[in-house]
Amino acid sequence: MRRAMALAIAAALAIAVGLAGCRTASLPEQGSAAEHLYAQRCGSCHKPYAPSSMTVAMWATQVDAMEPKIAQAGLPPLSEGERRAILNYLERNAGAQ
Ligand code: HEC
Repeated sequence: MRRAMALAIAAALAIAVGLAGCRTASLPEQGSAAEHLYAQRCGSCHKPYAPSSMTVAMWATQVDAMEPKIAQAGLPPLSEGERRAILNYLERNAGAQ
């Protein structure tokens, strides 16, 4: 039991380190709470997309489109606060219209 826990924690850390390795270079507002939240909630299934890769309008659509995928994967749904923080972050850094 203890061993299984230790292995699970080691695996989770390895994944976290791996993801951090490929995500840190490109995301704006490095180290901010918003960047961390975005990377965490929007970078677990695929690499977090660069905010500048889409316009404000596209981001609103994309976040809506991800909600059923998040539910299907058995991940906790975005709370209203998380959703707003992620959208604000994406909108601040979105690409030109
Ligand atoms: C549960 C897994 C999962 C999570 C979490 C997730 N996505 Fe996705 N996302 C996917 C899958 C699967 C695709 C592949 C495209 C498809 O199936 O439509 C995708 C595709 C995308 C695309 C590309 C769509 C395109 O048209 O090229 C964007 C942008 C995107 N996700 C943004 C986000 C954002 C923003 C969040 C956080 C709110 C997020 N994703 C969280 C699973 C996820």
